[in-house]
Amino acid sequence: MDTLTEQTLLKKGAEASIYLANWNERKVIVKIRIPKRYRPPALDDRIRSYRTVHEPQLMHEAKAAGVTTPLIYMVNVNEAAITMQYIEGQQVKQLLNNSSAEKRKEVCFQIGNLIAKLHNHGLIHGDLTTSNMIQTPEGKIVFVDFGLGEKNSELEAQGVDLHLMKRALQSTHYRFWEECFKDVLSGYQCVVGAETTEKVYEKIREIERRGRYVEERKQ
Ligand SMILES: Nc1ncnc2c1ncn2[C@@H]1O[C@H](COP(=O)(O)OP(=O)(O)O)[C@@H](O)[C@H]1O
Ligand SMILES: [Mg+2]
Repeated sequence: MDTLTEQTLLKKGAEASIYLANWNERKVIVKIRIPKRYRPPALDDRIRSYRTVHEPQLMHEAKAAGVTTPLIYMVNVNEAAITMQYIEGQQVKQLLNNSSAEKRKEVCFQIGNLIAKLHNHGLIHGDLTTSNMIQTPEGKIVFVDFGLGEKNSELEAQGVDLHLMKRALQSTHYRFWEECFKDVLSGYQCVVGAETTEKVYEKIREIERRGRYVEERKQ
């Protein structure tokens, strides 16, 4: 009864393989972290085990922060496999590219809101890209992929998190990334207030200045 059936590979990523499967008459996602040959085997085992345990924990914490994440059904540390609820919907990446300016504004505002809820709760997502967000048919945004996340309440970590979001928008949605990021920050501000948002924004600028400095030194 507890077996996974009809497994189909949805995505073979750099870090994990994502399968769509059936488990107890539910549609589930099985995320299996694949061994990395370039890492010494013992270290590789540790990293994969750690992330396999850590990701569901952070997803659980995110729920407490008011951010919807997939339900976790099973965690198999030996196989570095997580079985979780399949979230029906559309990747925000696709959604932003195929919708009106008005719709984009609404979605980005909502995303900013959710990031602020995580940060307010001392959580860092660690990989804020529009591929890691799914909009359900009811219009709710669900965050996935907490494998690189952490518990951290520092401004620096929050700045890095939002800087990553900015970079992801620039590279994936270059035609309208500016308005998108502005709306993300408006949504963020709505939860944490103007003062905190200004501090995080200044942090992002500092991170960018550091980046430019490193680039100049390389030349
Ligand atoms: N629970 C889920 N329900 C629906 N789609 C999912 C779910 N988890 C992941 N996905 C999809 O699979 C993609 C890859 O999963 P992700 O956890 O981000 O792995 P990776 O570390 O390879 O990026 C995501 O971008 C998302 O589109
Ligand atoms: Mg991902």
